[in-house]
Amino acid sequence: MSQNLGKNINKNIDQLIKRDAEVLLHPSSSITDLIENGPKMVVGAQGRHVVDAEGRQLLDAMAGLWCVNVGYGRDELGEAMKVASNQLGFYHSFTNASNPWQVELADKLLQLTPNNMGKVFFGTSGSDCNDTLIKIAWHYHALKGNNKKTKIIARDQAYHGTSISTASLTGLTGFHKEFPIPLDFVVRVDCPHYYSQAIDDETEEQFCDRLINNIEAMIEREGADTLAAFFAEPIMGAGGIIVPPQDYYPRLGKLLKQHDILFVADEVICGYGRLGAWFGSTEFGIEPDMIASAKGLTSGYFPLSAAFLTDEIWEVLKLGSEQIGAFMHGYTYSGHPVGAAVALANIEIMERENLIEKAKVSGKYLHEQLQSLMNLPNVGEVRGQGLIAGIQLVTDKASRQTPDQADALPAKITALMREKGVIVRPLASIGTLAVSPPLNITNDEIDTLVSALSESISSFA
Ligand SMILES: Cc1ncc(COP(=O)(O)O)c(C=O)c1O
Repeated sequence: MSQNLGKNINKNIDQLIKRDAEVLLHPSSSITDLIENGPKMVVGAQGRHVVDAEGRQLLDAMAGLWCVNVGYGRDELGEAMKVASNQLGFYHSFTNASNPWQVELADKLLQLTPNNMGKVFFGTSGSDCNDTLIKIAWHYHALKGNNKKTKIIARDQAYHGTSISTASLTGLTGFHKEFPIPLDFVVRVDCPHYYSQAIDDETEEQFCDRLINNIEAMIEREGADTLAAFFAEPIMGAGGIIVPPQDYYPRLGKLLKQHDILFVADEVICGYGRLGAWFGSTEFGIEPDMIASAKGLTSGYFPLSAAFLTDEIWEVLKLGSEQIGAFMHGYTYSGHPVGAAVALANIEIMERENLIEKAKVSGKYLHEQLQSLMNLPNVGEVRGQGLIAGIQLVTDKASRQTPDQADALPAKITALMREKGVIVRPLASIGTLAVSPPLNITNDEIDTLVSALSESISSFA
């Protein structure tokens, strides 16, 4: 950590902390809490640590919001942005305008994605990326003459974003309260979490059978001719770090193919190394028709998303272009040269420092160490893969009883951990603590993280 980091704090920081609640509406935040307790101001960062307004260094075991994969304070990312900003700054990509950075980035990404991906569309966030893919799914089926294929399937506990369409796909009911969503194009299916969703003494295999049978029954009920796509995070993130049974995705993929329902892998968290592989799909036997990605693409240094589609889908869009004209979807900042430049530099770091393999090795160490938490009376399950983990809190181990949401136990534990200098994330809906550190986290830092988890969770046992 740079010696000067804590000293560069803005002199007016106390005034700004006070001013925050007077001028800002924060995303996914409690207004009451902000008014009572003020913001959690962060003023600098280096490596795996962020610095707060008091100059305290906190180990960021969440990599920001599951995204700072190469860690903080990477000068070369700033340099790459500066070069692209000075040389071009901005130019749009509408009406086939382009810039060299986005072509180079697309080329690079198509070498890293599962090999059936053929084209990429750039946006700025995970939400707009999924929104784009919903529209491409609709467009694809309509151009093939299947205008009724408009419903999108998503799972309980899924998180796909907060735009109107993606909040509708999101299966966390907190995101729907007092908004007129989910919109009615969404069909909801089971969350594939054996630990919390198994019935009686069902084995994991039987659980998987039941879920696949339920999806099959849903397809029968809704009619395959009305279903456009199935959206799935390979490992669910915000919904609880949920890893489905082994056979789930291959069986699901087969079923969707039979019914011409597109499989969209939402790799916004899993992509770019989080699971110890470039993409989560390859780890779980998913053969996606389209992929959503963002976050780790630039390690969060610039808002950028990449939506991937197969050449087979693109061929249909191409025919559409010949018949109906331009593909009428896009954003002012699609293909942003500065975003593309930083993504290229970010991927270069990942390759040069072998961060994908490192995430695999450190991930193994992390999960081995986290197993010690299973000795605590209020931990029921530790799950995940690579550098993503969920620690399931329980009030009764035998019955797998999760804590009452009103008790806000995960938030209380994460507050205590912050006092100890470590940031993890509470996932309230399922009583889970989430861990998702930068990919270059060291074993010593993992030890610090696990000790803080152990001490803090035991304080509430
Ligand atoms: C799996 C997944 N999809 C989509 C999103 C939405 O991304 P954004 O917040 O950039 O819109 C997120 C954000 O956490 C996510 O985890």
